[in-house]
Amino acid sequence: MVAGPTLRLGVIGLGRAFTLMLPGLRAHRRYALVAAADPNEDNRRRFAAEFGAKVYETEQAMCRNGGVDAVYIATPHQWHAANTLVAAAAGKHVLVEKPMALSIADCYTMIEACRAAKVALVVGHSHSFDAPIRRAYEIIASGSVGAVKMLHALDYTDFLYRPRRPEELDPDAGGGAVFNQGAHQVDVARLLCGGKSSSVRAVTAAWDRARPVEAAYSALVTFESGAAASLTYSGFAHFDSDELMGWIGEGGAVKDAAHYGDTRRALKGQDEAAMRRARSYGATAGTAAAPAPARYHPHFGPLIVSCEHADLRPLPDCIWIYGDGEKYQEKLPPPQPRQEVLDAFYDAAVHGRAPAQTGEWGLATLEVCLAIAQSAREGREIALHHQTAVP
Ligand SMILES: NC(=O)c1ccc[n+]([C@@H]2O[C@H](COP(=O)([O-])OP(=O)(O)OC[C@H]3O[C@@H](n4cnc5c(N)ncnc54)[C@H](O)[C@@H]3O)[C@@H](O)[C@H]2O)c1
Repeated sequence: MVAGPTLRLGVIGLGRAFTLMLPGLRAHRRYALVAAADPNEDNRRRFAAEFGAKVYETEQAMCRNGGVDAVYIATPHQWHAANTLVAAAAGKHVLVEKPMALSIADCYTMIEACRAAKVALVVGHSHSFDAPIRRAYEIIASGSVGAVKMLHALDYTDFLYRPRRPEELDPDAGGGAVFNQGAHQVDVARLLCGGKSSSVRAVTAAWDRARPVEAAYSALVTFESGAAASLTYSGFAHFDSDELMGWIGEGGAVKDAAHYGDTRRALKGQDEAAMRRARSYGATAGTAAAPAPARYHPHFGPLIVSCEHADLRPLPDCIWIYGDGEKYQEKLPPPQPRQEVLDAFYDAAVHGRAPAQTGEWGLATLEVCLAIAQSAREGREIALHHQTAVP
């Protein structure tokens, strides 16, 4: 755990992303949850009661009066840029959820605003912060396995059939798997392949006419380092790639394989907006049992990183290293929920030590995601121009 004074945090957007970050925020001794902003009254009421904290309808009011040093922006993507500009203008450090924004222009505006205000800008949580990925990065950076030549990442989930807000099913509003899920896979691949992608050739798929948004993609991303990454995602709730991860789910919890098809079945004939509201932070006050702490590290599906002298396979509790002469396993210490991203943001805000996942990094990842969509639309390879190396 990082050292230093308490960072007073205000949350903008008390939805699903916040509930996923909450166990980490509770466990982390350097953060105090002192304020929140959300237009939803139930969410505000629960937050005020749970943390004895101030709550506001708008981020402007929170940044003005909430006594916060930093904000965690967990609103829908389309608000990330506007929320960041308000926070930066008020001198607050910014941790913004992925994807950083919906356009490259918005990302540049956010970076500039934070630079001018001399506040930190970190984009996360993404799975590039996961401890197994971090360890794979360290092994590669040590030089012991040679340069990365090829990376294969795969994730099959029930993404499309989880209850959704309307804009999450609208490709023009940042809906679909490329925007929502691509940032995780692209962040991981960029971290392990040197950061600077050169080009993308991809296909996307939207084959359920009842939910006509891209829920799958397959992309080949080349890198200046000479590496190439193939990234495949499918959210059609058929095969579940957690089967290849020992039935450990994305968040690191053990999953019951007997629940095949539940997500799709639960949605049938239901009022989706009501289902989504019923799962929100405020609506579940007093009803939801606290989830058991995850026993394993989070992951984003099977991943094989081929280097000159070894294949690396990061898993939720270890890394397998398939070297020239032998294969061996490196065990990882037990997980602390979201500690990596919270430590990184704390370090950036309090000590001025930026992680890899800065605003410039988030912009470059968004460029790759936008290129996946463009390549699929236009049927051609897209060159990339806004890439950054791993610092
Ligand atoms: N990193 C992860 O693991 C992860 C997981 C889920 C979501 N996310 C990201 O988090 C973001 C939010 O997604 P979600 O699933 O939590 O959505 P959500 O709909 O569950 O929650 C969004 C919350 O923001 C509030 N809100 C809306 N507009 C606001 C505004 N202008 N100011 C303040 N609050 C506002 C809503 O009332 C709601 O409570 C998305 O960008 C998504 O990609 C990240």
